[in-house]
Amino acid sequence: MPSLPQEVTVRLATESDLPRIVAHYGPGGGDSPWDPFADLDRLRRTARSGLLIAELDGEYVGFLYWYEARRPWYAPEVDRYARISDLHIVPSAQGKGAGRALLREAVAQIRSAGIGDIFLETDEDNVRAQNLYRREGFERVTPGVIRFRLRASPP
Ligand SMILES: CC(C)(COP(=O)(O)OP(=O)(O)OC[C@H]1O[C@@H](n2cnc3c(N)ncnc32)[C@H](O)[C@@H]1OP(=O)(O)O)[C@@H](O)C(=O)NCCC(=O)NCCS
Repeated sequence: MPSLPQEVTVRLATESDLPRIVAHYGPGGGDSPWDPFADLDRLRRTARSGLLIAELDGEYVGFLYWYEARRPWYAPEVDRYARISDLHIVPSAQGKGAGRALLREAVAQIRSAGIGDIFLETDEDNVRAQNLYRREGFERVTPGVIRFRLRASPP
């Protein structure tokens, strides 16, 4: 029997979502010893205004984090910008639209904060993520590091 389409919803993370994020991301893991998503205490101390979670039929399936920053060294013409630092969907839910839904909601949030430029990075071999970013209008801007940019929409 064909499976029914599942409904993806995206919302701001609350305190009660934080243990689920750490369990997904991997306690003790992360890119660096200070990575907030690998440690519940650190995550509790992290601002939650850019922390979104996705649910598939009401079950947690992933998160995205963005924050505001200024003057990226790799784009000196840009002043205020948003950096999307994390986007992770649990393996069993990948390919079901949750990554796109998180990205779209983050872009909407960033736009409504009046921020034009958005930057993010990904790995050379992460074709899946690169496809998603390109499909959502991002363009690769730096050689070497796989860095994408979504420019401000024309007025
Ligand atoms: C990359 C990731 C965030 C994408 O999220 P997702 O929920 O799996 O993707 P979606 O179902 O929303 O698909 C969105 C787009 O991603 C791309 N994509 C998804 N699955 C893909 C696959 N298996 N192969 C190639 N591209 C794929 C496609 O462009 C797709 O859009 P399309 O079907 O219209 O072409 C997710 O797979 C993930 O968390 N991967 C592991 C962690 C990671 O790599 N994070 C990104 C770090 S920068």
